[in-house]
Amino acid sequence: MRRLNWGLIGGGEGSQIGPAHRLGAAVDGLYAFVAGALDHRPEVGRAFGRRLGLAPDRAYGDWREMLAAERDRPDRVDLVTVATPNATHYPIARAFLEAGFDVLCEKPMTTTVEEAEDLVRLARATGRICAVNYGYTGYALVRHMRAMVARGDLGRIRLVVAEFAHGHHAAGDDDRNPRVRWRYDPAEAGVSAVFADAGIHALHLAVFVTGQEVTRLAADPVSCVPSRRLEDDAMINFRMDGGAVGRLWTSAVAIGRMHGLTLQVFGERGGLRWAQEQPNQLYWMPLGGRLEVIERGEPGLSPEAERASRVTVGHAEGMPLAFANIYRDIAEAIRARAEGRAPDPSVDLYPRAEDGLRSVAAVHAMAASGRGGGCWVDARPPMFRTG
Ligand SMILES: NC(=O)c1ccc[n+]([C@@H]2O[C@H](COP(=O)([O-])OP(=O)(O)OC[C@H]3O[C@@H](n4cnc5c(N)ncnc54)[C@H](O)[C@@H]3O)[C@@H](O)[C@H]2O)c1
Repeated sequence: MRRLNWGLIGGGEGSQIGPAHRLGAAVDGLYAFVAGALDHRPEVGRAFGRRLGLAPDRAYGDWREMLAAERDRPDRVDLVTVATPNATHYPIARAFLEAGFDVLCEKPMTTTVEEAEDLVRLARATGRICAVNYGYTGYALVRHMRAMVARGDLGRIRLVVAEFAHGHHAAGDDDRNPRVRWRYDPAEAGVSAVFADAGIHALHLAVFVTGQEVTRLAADPVSCVPSRRLEDDAMINFRMDGGAVGRLWTSAVAIGRMHGLTLQVFGERGGLRWAQEQPNQLYWMPLGGRLEVIERGEPGLSPEAERASRVTVGHAEGMPLAFANIYRDIAEAIRARAEGRAPDPSVDLYPRAEDGLRSVAAVHAMAASGRGGGCWVDARPPMFRTG
């Protein structure tokens, strides 16, 4: 079985997310890293690409140059990852999808709902994969939570409490930090900073685990650092289409919180609690029972969790391996399509363009609710509104 050719756009030297993509794509030997346009500075990107082992003619200075060269190669890339700042996702993803490439796009997929709907339509029309990197859904115990909810262990879901609150932008020194500046600049980040950057991971986890979609929300976004034009903290109440009530806190000024991504799901028959900083333990309490710790890698977990678990029980397993599960799922989808068969359901879990669209719609709903003084607003994308 030949390895799939993989290309990366963005994720240059010193970037936050580039290393996790390179590690995640490499783990299973399913992809060969053959092409990249890694940096907004062409020469810096070319040089870094060559240092990472790319052939000089495939260490591109710009994504347009990469597209023009790759589209005509017999050994062109099979999958392109877009890991650039938010406002560039749409033109890059659109151009590669249109040229027939499969795409894994960083979140938020786009900055406007219209762009996100366009990518959904384009992916459907071309039959190409437009995956979105909600990489935390690759954790084995997140997949186990989803399986437990789906098989009814918790009964009807009453309440979901999600958080993604960190303190890494508490200094308010955006102008002096190029990796922070774009996140609070509407031209580069869109209508939201911390919710689009961090909070939507928590929201998507809630959707992924419960199997329910967000229908409406009410938000209280604030800029605790007054010079910021976009929010650095938000509290969001939401409702889901299966009846679950949702609460979400996201922050970038919570000093002392490191990554702070957690999910709690409470049903009629039991409750689950998982935190990304201790990803190998899942806390489960059945109604009237005792609190149990479910360990990643222990026997008897769901098939989805067993497939997602890569190191033996009791050994730390972390974020690049969660990303590896997204890459493995996409490789399976590409292969299944080529072979004209259905993908293995235990690994058919990568987030789709539709998930990216729903999140972008929630980001805009959050901003609209904030402008409206915290009023309840429809959080669904127009193309998925049925009434
Ligand atoms: N899924 C996740 O868990 C996760 C985590 C962090 C960031 N992200 C997302 O990844 C994206 C990048 O975030 P980051 O934190 O790595 O940002 P960053 O500022 O640390 O790095 C951005 C990189 O993209 C490069 N770049 C910018 N414009 C480019 C262009 N036009 N062509 C090629 N390269 C370009 C920059 O030179 C830099 O190397 C954002 O959309 C962010 O929301 C996702």
